[in-house]
Amino acid sequence: MQTIKTYIETHKQRFLDELFELLRFPSISANPAHQPDIIHTANFVAQKLVLAGADAVEVCQTAGNPIVYGHKIIDANLPTVLVYGHYDVQPPEPLELWHTPPFEPTIRDGKIYARGACDDKGQFYMHIKAFELMMQTNTLPCNIKFMIEGEEEVGSDNLGDFVIANKQKLQADVVLISDTSMISMENPSLETGLRGLSYMEVEVVGPNKDLHSGVYGGAVANPATILCQMIASLHDENNQVNIPGFYDGIIELSPEERNELNAAPFNLTDYKKDLGIDEVWGETGYTTIERTGIRPTLEVNGIWGGYTGVGAKTVLPSKANAKISMRLVPGQDWRKISDLFAAHFKAIAPPSVKVNVVAHHGGKPYVTPTNSIAFKAAQLAIEDAFGKKPVPTRGGGSIPIVALFEEELGIKTVLMGFGLDSDSLHSPNEKYDVFNFYKGIETIPLFYKHFAELSMR
Ligand code: BES
Ligand code: MN
Ligand code: MN
Repeated sequence: MQTIKTYIETHKQRFLDELFELLRFPSISANPAHQPDIIHTANFVAQKLVLAGADAVEVCQTAGNPIVYGHKIIDANLPTVLVYGHYDVQPPEPLELWHTPPFEPTIRDGKIYARGACDDKGQFYMHIKAFELMMQTNTLPCNIKFMIEGEEEVGSDNLGDFVIANKQKLQADVVLISDTSMISMENPSLETGLRGLSYMEVEVVGPNKDLHSGVYGGAVANPATILCQMIASLHDENNQVNIPGFYDGIIELSPEERNELNAAPFNLTDYKKDLGIDEVWGETGYTTIERTGIRPTLEVNGIWGGYTGVGAKTVLPSKANAKISMRLVPGQDWRKISDLFAAHFKAIAPPSVKVNVVAHHGGKPYVTPTNSIAFKAAQLAIEDAFGKKPVPTRGGGSIPIVALFEEELGIKTVLMGFGLDSDSLHSPNEKYDVFNFYKGIETIPLFYKHFAELSMR
């Protein structure tokens, strides 16, 4: 323990400087204009893996963004940990809401502000530094493999093929990921599940051109109005998703499991205050913890159409669009849900408009077994580092590739995230606490220690 702390203490400024360098790359996977930045970031990650002591480091080309691979195999008889992370980030817009520029990392009040600070650069970089630490202090007790991809934020389209083509190379005993959150540093937690996702885009088409709203308004269906009516009908009076078949097959939790989840520290008053809302919202019969962890949901991510420029323009738009996503839970199949959504959305369209529905990416939900050696190792590591046992929680977000690791490689994942829900992931002013960054670097080697010890038994 002391060597870990001493090493971090000695090198903490350099660790932070390196993270800042990484954060300066605008590696936005959603925007093709940033392709060169993606390549630079992948090369940077590869170089840092080499410097940390990894062998066989490679920037693997795919049909999309490259995947960085590297490993340290110390003994084929020892257990192997596959570390997954992503170096791509979400677009930073709206830029005017950032207090400091998204790709000029800045520390304020002990927090690193930058796009990707928490999701996921700050978190996967902890693993590279923890690896360096174990190499330098001669304490690496397991084999380690790194796979850091560049398309997570756009659905990991090419990672599946890479995994299938490299099953041997990626063989490991557990996948370890830091790309999720904890309740707080005082209440450390471990996520035991991720939700799946189905992402759709819809278009409601009316007249063949924008019309004068005085000449035609009231006589021709307004696609923006119709779209709003259709979207409003997607939730019923209990705020349940109103798509036939949507809840079919869901694996429900037992009352005991629900009680355990609801026992996690959570303060509704603080929650509302943090978000500036007077009241929460959601499916009748479920708590906020359940609504964001074990229940499926439907959200409008964006909606547009007609005139949105300055001033006023009287117009009846010819079409209106929306991006709609659904979070899914075990028992729901994202392809089936996407089909159900498309069929339903078309079915509820009035004859006065036409509707186009496109399915974007999707992903499967995942639940981690809590009786595995790897999960126990994570619990023990957190207990050692935080002085407190972690509470199991269900995460609301999605990392679709985790289910694929299980299907294609037969490997289970441990989600040892060090972010906070208040880190503003995907939002302006994303941040990651400097404390969490160092705490992660301190906890990760303890995971390896416990994982190796428990595996030997
Ligand atoms: N790191 C997040 C997922 C996450 C965040 C899980 C917080 C648990 C808690 C990941 O980068 C992400 O944003 N995933 C996307 C899905 C992806 C297919 C675009 C998401 O959850 O929206
Ligand atoms: Mn992420
Ligand atoms: Mn993300």
